[in-house]
Amino acid sequence: MGDRLKGKVTVVTGAGSIGPGIGNGKATSVLYAREGAKVVLVDMNLEAANETKSIIDGEGGECITVEADVTRSSDCKNIIDECLRAYGRIDVLHNNVGIEIPGGVEDMSEEDWDKTMAVNLKSMFLTCKYAVPHMVAQGRGSIINISSINAIRNLPYITIAYSASKAGVIAFTREVAIQYASKGVRANAILPGMMNTPMVVAALTGAFGGNVEQMMKTRDGMCPTGKQGEPWDVASLSVFLASDDAKYITGAALVLDGGLTCIVKPF
Ligand SMILES: NC(=O)c1ccc[n+]([C@@H]2O[C@H](COP(=O)([O-])OP(=O)(O)OC[C@H]3O[C@@H](n4cnc5c(N)ncnc54)[C@H](O)[C@@H]3O)[C@@H](O)[C@H]2O)c1
Repeated sequence: MGDRLKGKVTVVTGAGSIGPGIGNGKATSVLYAREGAKVVLVDMNLEAANETKSIIDGEGGECITVEADVTRSSDCKNIIDECLRAYGRIDVLHNNVGIEIPGGVEDMSEEDWDKTMAVNLKSMFLTCKYAVPHMVAQGRGSIINISSINAIRNLPYITIAYSASKAGVIAFTREVAIQYASKGVRANAILPGMMNTPMVVAALTGAFGGNVEQMMKTRDGMCPTGKQGEPWDVASLSVFLASDDAKYITGAALVLDGGLTCIVKPF
């Protein structure tokens, strides 16, 4: 147990994992608690959030769960209400929820485009809408938005809505950062590269002919380190951005990819 976030109240959206194992939101929630934060675990799947809660409870950390679909305005308002009711303030808003539906302009349905934009981008607007006034009133707050290197690079499959939404996350984060810089509220985006998480198995196996082992081997091989990143890597950077060590960092889009985007042609 550390104390880098001692006393801070954090909200993590998508705090469960979509499948067995540990994803970015789950690892980040656990690491926030290990660093002394009180964590509000938000997920549309309460069972998934409860799995994360049982890890944190088992380690002596402090957390509550809130069932919410972050594409719904009323649910986002309720997240912040529940956070304030339980802990009286909100120091960190960590927007982790994101979905990936592969496809390009011709084969992707309009419904899948709209759904991706709502889940990946509008959700951040809604959670910020309700959290920011409290951060401004406190005179401090840190917002961490999970983007992706898909925002700045094409990867070996077309995923047009995902990439466009993640590019939107960077611009959204920048605008929030500048608007609230003088009020003590910071906003930063993290751009993870190839991470080995349950989400990748759920979203992308189809693009690799259904062979998970082959997909993981291919993804490992694409990374300069020879290995994909782990959800704990996203969690570690998030702890830093959430902490006061990062007090002069705002409006940043931080790449977390083991050097992958440094390569001209990674595949
Ligand atoms: N794994 C990678 O390689 C990679 C790379 C770049 C970026 N990312 C980003 O990381 C984030 C995903 O992290 P994860 O591993 O925690 O994902 P995950 O798919 O395991 O999802 C975490 C949780 O989000 C919940 N969720 C989904 N839609 C929701 C909604 N509308 N409202 C509330 N909860 C919802 C799910 O129920 C799940 O429990 C995404 O933003 C993704 O784009 C991942």
